[in-house]
Parts: sequence; structure tokens; C-alpha cells
Amino acid sequence: MNRWFNVIWKTKINQITSTKYPLIMAAFARISSIDFAAAFSNVGGLGIITALNFKIDIFKKELQRMQSLTDKPFGVNITVVPPKARLERYTEDDYLKYVEVALNEGVKIFTTSAYQASFIGKRVHEAGGYWFHKCSLIRHAISAERVGADAITLTGLEAAGFKNPYQHSTLVNITVAKRILKVPIIAAGGIGDARGFLGALAMGADAICLGTAILLTKESPLPLHLKDDWLNTDILLEDYYKKLYHFSLKGTRVPSPATAFIINEVSLKDFIESLIDRAEKILRTWGFTKEEFNCI
Ligand SMILES: Cc1cc2nc3c(=O)[nH]c(=O)nc-3n(C[C@H](O)[C@H](O)[C@H](O)COP(=O)(O)O)c2cc1C
Repeated sequence: MNRWFNVIWKTKINQITSTKYPLIMAAFARISSIDFAAAFSNVGGLGIITALNFKIDIFKKELQRMQSLTDKPFGVNITVVPPKARLERYTEDDYLKYVEVALNEGVKIFTTSAYQASFIGKRVHEAGGYWFHKCSLIRHAISAERVGADAITLTGLEAAGFKNPYQHSTLVNITVAKRILKVPIIAAGGIGDARGFLGALAMGADAICLGTAILLTKESPLPLHLKDDWLNTDILLEDYYKKLYHFSLKGTRVPSPATAFIINEVSLKDFIESLIDRAEKILRTWGFTKEEFNCI
């Protein structure tokens, strides 16, 4: 792709992650592909390996495979399943075994989600790494900051994945959290194009987390029938709206509205490069003339 202009992106998050762009890959349970995470890192974002998709005895090998596919930074996600919902019965020690393997392989960035994870943050900090925690409520974000998280990913109601009945929209989450939190914020939920990216930065985020949108790219390991369904999702339909926002309809998983931004299946590289390219063009139309976009 011919780039129109090359803005250097500088935010508190891509300073920590040492990535070209302030883009973080989402965690995906059961949709595991090292190649997909490597592709995300190679194009300039922070590829994330969802650790629990791999049995502990092969995890080290998978991390080494990641290192053979990219020389760019990547992170590891540990989704700490709440005790009540714990189907696979992991103990804190089980989670920490994954952390230990990743630390030994030189991983520096750990993302945690779904439940309290300060026991992971503590170990990561002892080893000199960074701990980003993801939550969906501002009050959980405040708690995570208090117990030492280096950054918070806040997911809005628009996001795919588990919901909290007291969750706000991405806009409310980020703008309110920005007034309260001191640590950098990563916006997640319904983001899938340049305007969403710039909007999140304007709201006060230091990066965005991409989930649904990137699952619709060529490299994504999302099963083909789901990819097809998701690409054809009409987010304007009442039925879709009910499935996405009505908590009574549990078990009716739908993609986030970010699906609306993806018309055709494109490569992950083209998707990310066109998102960044468009963001740069929008900045120019707003009169931005610098070579560096710095919101540190
Ligand atoms: C298929 C799928 C599986 C997911 N699995 C996890 C998971 O295991 N752990 C987690 O923290 N979040 C999980 N999520 C949520 C994403 O990490 C991310 O927060 C969300 O997709 C962001 O919203 P978006 O889809 O609108 O971009 C999952 C999302 C999808 C679509």
C-alpha cells in the first residue's frame, strides 16, 4: 500500500510497548494462532498470545515459535476466569506457571482480564515487566490501578465477549476514566476504523484494543462459517441490537458493532495500514501539520 504520509505515533502506551502504533491485539479464548499474533506484531501493533489456549507443556515451544515469526514486541494474556464461572479449574499457581514460562522467554508485557489479577501483576513487576489489566467497569479500573496495574484496558458495552450488567459505553468509560485514573488507558469495544481510533485518543485513551475487527481479516483463525456470519451481520437490525445489549439473552453471542467497518475480508496488514493511513489523512484535514502525533 502506498502510504500518503508517515506520522510518528507517540503515546504513553506505545512508549511502554515499543510498538510503532498504539494498537493492542485483543485476547481470544479458543481462537489461538501464533501466526495471527505474529502478523499483528509485524504490522506494528502489540500481538497478544492468549496463554490459556495452550497447554502448559507446549506453551514454551509456542512462545519460541512466536519469536521465530517476529522480532517485534508481543505480549501474553492471562484470562483469570472468575471462580464462580470457572469451568477449567485453574488455581493461582496454574496461572503463575504460564507467567513464569513467558518471563523465562523474555516476555515483558502481560495483559490480564476477567477477574482480579494482582497476584500476576506482582510477579510480573518483580521480574521487571509491565502489567496491563482489562476490565469493564470504572470502579474495577480504579481498584486495578490501586493494586499496581501499569495500564488499564476498559471495555465498553459495545465490546464482544463477556458483559457486565453495569457496564457503560466505550465513550463514557474512557472519558470518565480519564478524569479519574493516572495510569494510561486502552480503549476497547466497537472500534474498527480510523475515526474510532482517533476518537478513542481524543477521549483520553493512549491506545486501542482491536478484537472483532481483526477477527474478520484473512489471517484470523476465526472459523469460516463464523467469519461469514459476522461479515454479513447487519448491526442496524433490532434482533442484533437485542442480542448485543440485552443481558437477558445470554448465550446469543454476536460480534461487536466493529463488524460494520469490515466490508470485505482483507489481510491484517492492509486493514491496519489503511486504518493508520486514514487516521493520518483525517488529522491533515483537521489542520495537523506535524510529523509526530504526541499525546504523552
Ligand atoms: C471470539 C472472542 C473471544 C474472546 N475471548 C476473550 C478472552 O479469552 N479473554 C478476554 O479477556 N477477552 C476476550 N474477548 C474480548 C476481547 O479480548 C476484547 O476485549 C473485545 O473483543 C474488544 O471489543 P471489540 O470486539 O469490539 O473490538 C474475546 C472476544 C471475542 C470476539
